[in-house]
Amino acid sequence: MAKIIRTIGELYARLRSDHVIHDGSVLPARWMRTGGRHFQDDRRFLASGEAEADRLQRFLDCSRASRILDIGCGVGRLPIGIIRRLGDVRRYEGVDATQRSVRWCTRYLTPSHPRFRFTHLNVCNARYNPAGDVLNDDFRFPFDDASFDIVYLYSVFSHMKWEETERYVGEFRRLLAPNGKVFLTAFVEENVPPVTVNPEEGAMRWRGPLHCVRYERTHFEDMLRSHNCVVHSYEYGRETDGQSAYVLTVSQENRGNP
Ligand SMILES: C[S@@+](CC[C@H](N)C(=O)[O-])C[C@H]1O[C@@H](n2cnc3c(N)ncnc32)[C@H](O)[C@@H]1O
Repeated sequence: MAKIIRTIGELYARLRSDHVIHDGSVLPARWMRTGGRHFQDDRRFLASGEAEADRLQRFLDCSRASRILDIGCGVGRLPIGIIRRLGDVRRYEGVDATQRSVRWCTRYLTPSHPRFRFTHLNVCNARYNPAGDVLNDDFRFPFDDASFDIVYLYSVFSHMKWEETERYVGEFRRLLAPNGKVFLTAFVEENVPPVTVNPEEGAMRWRGPLHCVRYERTHFEDMLRSHNCVVHSYEYGRETDGQSAYVLTVSQENRGNP
């Protein structure tokens, strides 16, 4: 039954237009966007992408010389913002578990900006890619060591299981070049259980698998530290739906070791 519903959904999706043009930029059609009602407005969607690009320039030393890995890139909010603010960068790689989003970005962004490339990761996520492969302990992103100056994950750990989040964090040190930085958002609270899926307290009503995965702050930061991450800055609760924002650096000590 679920398969039939998915197939009908995919057929319907093919018949609908998948993009809009706003202020000279191609954007994903509204029905493709994730991340809250405010992103349904074209102007706000575009402004949020530009604001992310500005943030990377201000706090993560992003420039046209940067190599950026956008994990969970979705329908291209960040790369659209980077293209508007910086034009080209040295390298941008977007990866995502949702094939449709990767196809959209490849179709609409890569032809005019070939340095912006997108890869589908067929990993299971109960919310976004339930039929994907289980993310094993030996999972590695398909990129060489020290390939990136910035690793970015906006609203991705907020929808991932703890073990999978830890697996991704375990890749940061390998992927980052010396002096590289990570920006990520997550639902992080104090005085709560270590990990809660769709917490019932609070103003938000979470629905469906992995809508909100909330981490207790010390538990989350201990895990970051155990993978050589250093919290450079932490800002509580100001991102989408009350997520918190982290900028991390990664310790270079004993870099030859895993
Ligand atoms: C809320 S959306 C955020 C999209 C984008 N980062 C943004 O801010 O506009 C979460 C994205 O994470 C992706 N995602 C979820 N689990 C993932 C995983 N294990 N690996 C890669 N992408 C994943 C989803 O497919 C979805 O596109």
